[in-house]
Amino acid sequence: MTPGSAAGSPAPAARARRRVRLIGIGPGGPEDLTVAAATALGGLDVVLVADKDRGVEDLTALRTELCRRYGRADLRVIEVPDPPRDRAPATDAAYDTAVADWHAARAERYAAVLRDELADGQTAGFLVWGDPALYDSTIRIVERIAAAGTVQIDYDVLPGVSAVSMLAARHKLVLNRIGRAVTITTGRRLAAHVADGHDDLVVMLDGHLACAELTGDWDIWWGANLGTADEQLVAGELGAVLPAVRAARDRARAARGWVMDTYLLRRR
Ligand SMILES: C[S@@+](CC[C@H](N)C(=O)[O-])C[C@H]1O[C@@H](n2cnc3c(N)ncnc32)[C@H](O)[C@@H]1O
Repeated sequence: MTPGSAAGSPAPAARARRRVRLIGIGPGGPEDLTVAAATALGGLDVVLVADKDRGVEDLTALRTELCRRYGRADLRVIEVPDPPRDRAPATDAAYDTAVADWHAARAERYAAVLRDELADGQTAGFLVWGDPALYDSTIRIVERIAAAGTVQIDYDVLPGVSAVSMLAARHKLVLNRIGRAVTITTGRRLAAHVADGHDDLVVMLDGHLACAELTGDWDIWWGANLGTADEQLVAGELGAVLPAVRAARDRARAARGWVMDTYLLRRR
């Protein structure tokens, strides 16, 4: 029994809370989420979706399919329009400020929806691409909602299969060499990490194949649109397989209208 409450009835503070679940849904396939994630999806009253996803119909289609497969018949999907964002700030500091402002504005919008669209005790879910712990801001945004206090929430995080795990599995890879480190970074930061002596790197968020600029002897294990029916895999010595990577990128984009790729680079 909750201290101070009558037997069988929750304390008022507990009643006023909404539950929020951040559910990792894997990198693209409707079967690449965990049993725990599927079960959690079945317990949701509401799914919150950012309207930025509308531009990429395939991504929306996956979320719809997951809701159909694992969600309740009365599951509500609420689209929350994304606030505008400065996508071309001049400096790194301006970039950080722009992202922080954008997160704050998104948190306010989600808080308003949680407060106004959910009844006390109901559960809302964010379906997070891959794993919420990797290059995703949903955890930070939900932390802000909890801290702002305009709506009382309890939240938890369910891990998902990240694009990195899927890449490793498809290539039957161990990401680290025995007893060594592996760096996970972005295309934008790749050159700086290589200059710092990092020899085993997983690269994400790289729209321009930053690895094409590297000098030295490298092997690459590359994958795009992993988990979808049109996933692409290429592996080999970097210089030799770059044309194949570019061609596979084009095939992935042509097949689905989008391409997302992840790769491991290892210096020989
Ligand atoms: C914003 S991050 C999200 C990462 C995600 N949270 C995860 O755990 O995979 C987006 C990047 O993840 C990678 N990615 C996501 N889905 C992918 C997929 N199906 N195949 C290959 N890479 C993918 C790409 O590097 C893409 O630029």
